[in-house]
Amino acid sequence: MSRKYVIAGNWKMNKTPSEAKVLVKEVIEAIGAKPENVDVIVCPPFVAVDAAMGAAEGSFVKVGAQNLHFEAKGAYTGEIAADMLNDLGVSYVIIGHSERRQYFAETDETVNKKVLTAFEAGLTPIICVGETLEQREQGITADLIRMQVKIAFGGVTADQAKKAIIAYEPVWAIGTGKTATNEQADEVCGIIRETIGELYDGATAEEIIIQYGGSMNAGNAEALLAMPNIDGGLIGGAALKPNDFATIVKSAK
Ligand code: 13P
Repeated sequence: MSRKYVIAGNWKMNKTPSEAKVLVKEVIEAIGAKPENVDVIVCPPFVAVDAAMGAAEGSFVKVGAQNLHFEAKGAYTGEIAADMLNDLGVSYVIIGHSERRQYFAETDETVNKKVLTAFEAGLTPIICVGETLEQREQGITADLIRMQVKIAFGGVTADQAKKAIIAYEPVWAIGTGKTATNEQADEVCGIIRETIGELYDGATAEEIIIQYGGSMNAGNAEALLAMPNIDGGLIGGAALKPNDFATIVKSAK
């Protein structure tokens, strides 16, 4: 398997622009040299993206955003268009995080529109899927994840799909300290890969990067990242701690 690892920090609603500069520098220093075969991304809040880009310039750290709007421009107060991210030099964008689905009424359909918009703009989407505890207990995890993936990729070409990143984030594991077991996480990442294989073909399924997210930390990252279907992590809380984030990055090998 020739897939690289992608470790991304989702800073959520944390860090001012000035704090973001400091954190990016600390992250670069804590990681040291560019890790072989690992892409490292940080996703600060919109207003800190520019500052983070400046601090990351010339380093191996790439910067992403946490959301975008699917329309190109217009009367959408408070929203950010793909163009605006492009102009800043951003290359990644998180789409459909469960917090966006839960608090900001995002649906599989808006996720799909955003994914298409990101691809049109040349941005790499990090597409989040995941089940709630209730859904897991109902035994519908596999069906739900397949549905989320299928809707998210509607109208996406195989060439585009190959470049996408999918993050499996069980909602019950986010910010709770409750990590999915290595087997649970790998099983669902495997289901995602299988679904991509059904939608496209085996080569696309082999190539696509699938991350796990949900209380991944310096202690559990190595075992999770060693699982065959897990190609990286989308890290929340631990991404705000430079040494912990660096440990996670170094666990990807
Ligand atoms: P935590 O790592 O804080 O659980 O957050 C995970 C997450 O939601 C990343 O997008």
